[in-house]
Order: sequence, then C-alpha cells, then structure tokens
Amino acid sequence: MWVPRLVGRSLSQLKTIHTVQFSSRQISVKIVNESNIEVQPEANAKPLTFPGVWLRDNCMCGDCFHGSSKSRKLDWDNFDTRIRPLSLRTDEQSKEVLVKWSDAHESRFPLSWLQERSFEPDKQQKYLRDFYRPTTRHWSGAQFQEIAQHFSYDEVMSQDSVLMQWLQALAIYGVALLRGAPLDEGVVRRLADRVGFIRRTTYGEEFVVQAKPGAQNFAYLSLPLPLHTDLPYYEYKPSVNILHCVVQTDSPGGSNMLVDGFHVADLLRRDHPEDFDRLSRVVVDWNDIGSEDGREFHNIWRAPVICLDAEGRYTRINHSVPQRDSHFNVPLAEVLPWYESYARFVRLAIADSHAFKTRPGDVLTFNNIRLLHGRTGYDDSEQSPRYIVGAYLDWDIIYSRLRVLKKRSTATASCQ
Ligand code: OGA
Ligand code: ZN
Ligand code: ZN
Repeated sequence: MWVPRLVGRSLSQLKTIHTVQFSSRQISVKIVNESNIEVQPEANAKPLTFPGVWLRDNCMCGDCFHGSSKSRKLDWDNFDTRIRPLSLRTDEQSKEVLVKWSDAHESRFPLSWLQERSFEPDKQQKYLRDFYRPTTRHWSGAQFQEIAQHFSYDEVMSQDSVLMQWLQALAIYGVALLRGAPLDEGVVRRLADRVGFIRRTTYGEEFVVQAKPGAQNFAYLSLPLPLHTDLPYYEYKPSVNILHCVVQTDSPGGSNMLVDGFHVADLLRRDHPEDFDRLSRVVVDWNDIGSEDGREFHNIWRAPVICLDAEGRYTRINHSVPQRDSHFNVPLAEVLPWYESYARFVRLAIADSHAFKTRPGDVLTFNNIRLLHGRTGYDDSEQSPRYIVGAYLDWDIIYSRLRVLKKRSTATASCQ
C-alpha cells in the first residue's frame, strides 16, 4: 500500500505546482482544462489525458478503496463531481503520479495503473477485445473445417494453457471439439468443474439424450431434430452446450448439424434487410411445458429471433420449432409478414448448416446463444443405440475463467 510512503513527505507540504517537467526518461504531468490531468510517461511518448473526476473516484488510498476486496469504498453520497486537481507531483522511484485535490484529499496513481486504463480509443478497443470478451468471428458452413478447432480432453483437464485455448476458440467461433474423453457419465461435470460450474435447467444438471419411451422433450426421440437453439424459453438462456458422445449409433443418422446464427443473420441483413428488421423487432413467445422428476413446469420467455443491443450488435439468436408457443402476442397485421421472414431465415440456416457425426469420446461444445444446432434422425435399436450426455455452462463463468487464465499467463510471461 502506498499510504505509509506519504508519511514525512505529505503533499500538503509541497509548493503548489501545475506542471512538472523532468529529464527525457521521466514522467511529466500537467493540469489541463482545470479538471483533467495529462500524463506523459516519458519524453516523446504520447500524452495520456485522464479526467480529474474519474481519478478522484478511483483513488486507491485506504479511505477510498478496500484493498482485499478490490472495491471502491469512497463516500459516494457526498461525492463532488466538480472536484479539481490543485497540484501534481511525480515520484520517479515508484513511478507514480501524486495529486492534491480541491477537497484537500491526496491520491497517488502508479503510472502502469494509469496506462492500463488509458482513455485513448485504440487502447480501450484493445482492452475490450483482449480482456473483456474476445471479438467473435462469424463463419459460413463451408468454412467449418477451417474454424473448428480440436483439443485433447486430457490436455484441457491438465494444462491451463490448453483450457484457455479451448475457451478462447469457443468465444471467437462459438464451437470447439474435444477428443479422447473417457466413456463415463462424469465427463461433462468434470469439464464444467474445470471451467467453473454447471448451469442447471428444468432438465437437471447433466442430462442424457437418448430415445426414451414417453419422452418429455422432443430431443429425446430418434426423429430428426431440426436446427434450433436450446431453451429459448428462458430469459437467462444457458450459454454453452457440452454434448459428450458416449455411444454413437451405427445407423446412418445421428449426425449433428451446426450453423453460425450470427452469420445467417449477417446474410439476412445484407440481402433481405426488411426480413432482418422484422426478425429483430417482432417479439415471439417461446415456451416449454411439462414435468420432470414429478415437478411441473411452464416456461415462457418473449424475445425476437435475432436479438440486438442498442448498437445493433447481436446479443442472442432464438429458434426452436417445437418450443415456439402457439400464443403469438403481436398485432394481426404482423403475423404473415413475420412468418415469411422467419421462413427465409430458417431456409438460409438450413442451406448453410454443416453436418458431422461425433464419435465416442468426442465432446462437442458450442455457443447456444449464437449457433443453431440439430441432429439427423437415426434408427434406435438395442443393437445400435445412441447415448449422449449433456450439460450447460454460462458465459459469465466462462469469461471469468478466461480472464483469470489470461491474467495468470501474462503475469507468468512477464516474470520470465
Ligand atoms: C438436444 C440436442 C443433439 C444430439 O438434446 O437438444 O440438440 O446430438 N441433441 O442429440
Ligand atoms: Zn483516497
Ligand atoms: Zn439441442
């Protein structure tokens, strides 16, 4: 903590200065526009500007910041947004910028801390891309072989670097395959635990996909399973599917189909903008009604097929014919045009989908918020059964793990 270092050389004893210039390797600082601070890490380096209000808000002294929880504890009920820096100093030994404020408070900021939080747009973009969430790359079905990365199950379980590569591939492309997993039912849980923890749903934590008499879910039949996203009827739709192939049918079917829903939406946006607009605007009711383990459920969530954020970026794709509600709460005039647009989206998705058959020991992982997936029909018999164990993970948990792994690998690299 920096506080003890202030003892004996308190900022209040310093002469009020507005600009400090040192030799070429030294930090220089100045107050600009009365409330901002400009920091030049060394001569000829690009100066970085930091708003005073933000700096004061992010003071890291013991009064303003709780170190062990890494949390702000500043008294925000009385926070003055008109706060001004009165004087600046630099500490070349510790490479810190010291600020005395108009509320008589004193703060010090490590140069590296400031650089990591630069307001320069390219630095912010880099942080968002490299650390917040990797930028997605959309792909067509024809590119599937290029983008689908394979990892060894054992390496994912034993090496953090491979775990990181798997999660990174999943974040960027929305799909990645693990190979060589043992054929026991605990694989999906062990994988989920390696990342964080399983996301439970109406159907439990792990679920088995096999043809079952009296199936409560359309997937538990050996019929073809048309392209869909799982669980569109949840507001918090589980993010990533883990499908572990334990037994694969010898019959011709049982292949998985995958298509990048974001790519299909790109095609629609480019070639049929009215359909795109409608599918991103009209709110559809998605539902699932039934009972599992003696508990009845009736799930509904209302959302468009293509969900966008305020900046027009995709946040989620919803599509499931079996789980689209017969309640359709839209104006009458919207119905037929919506069906036309939806049918176009589905046709485009089918045309772009890629089919492949997993083998025992394969674990297919994909982004349920983004990809549509399906399964071709197969003959289920005692001689030729099919047995898939599934579970879900959530992106919050995956991204968190990815950041921890990245931070750790950067720290290790910089120690070498
Ligand atoms: C499902 C599903 C795929 C498969 O259960 O929702 O998509 O391979 N299953 O059976
Ligand atoms: Zn403080
Ligand atoms: Zn599914």
